[in-house]
Amino acid sequence: MAGIIDSRGRRVNYARISVTDRCNYRCVYCMPEDGVKPLSHTEIMRYEDILWFSEVLSGLGMKKIRFTGGEPLVRRGMPKFLIDFRKVFPEMSLSITTNASLVTQNISDLAKVRGLSMNISLDTLDPIKFREMTRGGDIGDVVSGIRTAIEIGISPIKINTVPIRGFNDSELPRIVNFAWDNGLIPRFIEFMPLCDDVWTRDRFMGAAEILSVLEEMGSWNSVQPVFSPDSRVPHGPARYYTNSASGQTAGIIEAVSNHFCSECNRLRVTSSGRMRSCLFSGNEIPLLHIIRERNLEAVRREIIACIDMKPHSWNDARDGKGRMSDIGG
Ligand code: 5AD
Ligand code: SF4
Repeated sequence: MAGIIDSRGRRVNYARISVTDRCNYRCVYCMPEDGVKPLSHTEIMRYEDILWFSEVLSGLGMKKIRFTGGEPLVRRGMPKFLIDFRKVFPEMSLSITTNASLVTQNISDLAKVRGLSMNISLDTLDPIKFREMTRGGDIGDVVSGIRTAIEIGISPIKINTVPIRGFNDSELPRIVNFAWDNGLIPRFIEFMPLCDDVWTRDRFMGAAEILSVLEEMGSWNSVQPVFSPDSRVPHGPARYYTNSASGQTAGIIEAVSNHFCSECNRLRVTSSGRMRSCLFSGNEIPLLHIIRERNLEAVRREIIACIDMKPHSWNDARDGKGRMSDIGG
């Protein structure tokens, strides 16, 4: 039961590290149309920095590390880095969040990363809508990437979809079936008001509404979560439901309507080494400098201080300034 206990008794044992703020897509809810001004190479953590920092996290009891972006696979050398990471941390639960478009071209290296799991963002299977949503992306690359990931044994693979009324709401059952047909876990993430220029109340779909759209597939029963005290990987934020007709499950992340702050077990680090205790809080601690200096004591102290600042709930924290492309979701 390792990890750091915060001031409200939450055990923090999961770190999400963004490896780049860049992405080959420009999803409308994630990035401005002309992209974000990319950070220069000197402003972001080098792979050696991330490895050293991960050792510090591991020493503090972190059990799970997820690499995010932007899109992690746009960073040169990322698959090789994952191989190195696995050598140094044979026991760490290791995953990446990706749009999957670059998986196929990285097949040979990714296949060498033992025990890698993947969350794949997929908001629509319609080629035209996909191009519109990502401002230019090709759904064919994503579907090919998903097939490659399955082929090389990446597991589990979760499909993350953000339901948006008037955009993909009628397609949700199709996405669930696509995931099930491929042995993947579909999850829906409530659309969060992070960039206030895109999010509107009428585009937002809450969990109850998402479930009601899925009713056409049969009824859904909530699954009791299994809390194992010595579980190496803590339960995620999704609530799972079983479909009466198929017996298969789908998850909903009630990021807005029923926030899971009281169970939050994570910390976030941006690609430039700024640590955040909460997705919604602009309270950041810059670590790049002390990571580069390999200042173990200072880095440990700041991690603990950051966890201590973890807000009680996201409403206390919300500043509307965060962009997913920067923080990594
Ligand atoms: N609300 C919910 N999910 C979001 N993501 C990006 N922006 C938002 C938002 N405003 C998701 C992406 C991806 C993950 C990193 O975060 O779809 O799956
Ligand atoms: Fe890229 Fe994912 Fe953001 Fe889309 S949501 S622009 S794929 S990082």
